[in-house]
Amino acid sequence: MATVNAGQSGTFKIGDIEVNRLGYGAMRITGKGIWGEPADHDGAIATLKRLPELGVNFIDTADSYGPDVSERLIAEALKPYEGIVVATKGGLVRTGPNEWHPLGRPEYLRQQAIKSQRQLGVETIDLWQLHRIDARVPREEQFAAMKQLQDEGIVRHLGLSEVSVEEIEAASKVFTVATVQNRYNLVDRTSEEVLDYCTEKGIGFIPWFPLAAGDLAKPGSILDRIAQKHGAAPSQIALAFVLKRSPVMLPIPGTSSVEHLEENVAAAGIQLSDEDFAALDAEGRKAFQAAS
Ligand SMILES: NC(=O)c1ccc[n+]([C@@H]2O[C@H](COP(=O)([O-])OP(=O)(O)OC[C@H]3O[C@@H](n4cnc5c(N)ncnc54)[C@H](OP(=O)(O)O)[C@@H]3O)[C@@H](O)[C@H]2O)c1
Repeated sequence: MATVNAGQSGTFKIGDIEVNRLGYGAMRITGKGIWGEPADHDGAIATLKRLPELGVNFIDTADSYGPDVSERLIAEALKPYEGIVVATKGGLVRTGPNEWHPLGRPEYLRQQAIKSQRQLGVETIDLWQLHRIDARVPREEQFAAMKQLQDEGIVRHLGLSEVSVEEIEAASKVFTVATVQNRYNLVDRTSEEVLDYCTEKGIGFIPWFPLAAGDLAKPGSILDRIAQKHGAAPSQIALAFVLKRSPVMLPIPGTSSVEHLEENVAAAGIQLSDEDFAALDAEGRKAFQAAS
């Protein structure tokens, strides 16, 4: 079978930068608890080097992954990037494995963006996202710091993460919101309203944890039946589902293995029928409501 290319997922323009919609999340190439160096450095580098060969030209990372480790590995494997867009984030402090704390003081956001710029080895960061709005700092100060980074050419486009429609609208008064990164998958519809808003406004929606399918991944489920029909894994159908859900959807499945990466990219070649999409959508919404 011919290798599927991420280009088959279609393209999306983040401002003036076009990317293939199916991207890659680089959170999983660090140590356990997203802390420290990966157990298999060469495996992480091999996974990253496979990305351009598979047509993946949109990578999501953050200063806090490691911290610093993910950005450094990306630079080691992929600099000078050649058409690859690396989106990073700032605004979370790490105090240990699996420990994350919002910190949105303007001077800290600025320091971290400049650190990311150096670590990635880029003149301008194509997309910089505020990882979390820090509730202890006036949000206008955080948005102003972001706008200043853009005005100075340290970052090109700006995005937000884990936000509501009201927060996107507040930020939009200060800068153009290019992307929103919220958790979203077949069975987690918390951000349905935000997704609809982004679709209407043409804002890129980056769903994190896109592979999750909860109990719908179990044998005999509708997801399992549709997967069998396509000779695919349930996780591939979960990805094909989010891709079909909206043209602004930019999923970034994360993995530390070349094998899983290839499997995830192959989802770009799966075309769900409207009927199968509707059935999956209904089951996903039902599962979400039952769990809420
Ligand atoms: N904005 C935020 O607050 C936020 C929060 C979390 C994550 N993110 C971003 O979103 C990206 C994706 O999120 P995520 O990593 O939580 O979720 P995900 O991509 O849905 O799932 C990743 C998990 O699934 C496994 N996996 C990947 N491909 C697989 C396959 N083909 N078959 C079986 N297992 C597979 C991975 O393990 P293996 O390594 O063994 O493949 C890993 O444990 C992250 O990399 C990060 O960039 C953002």
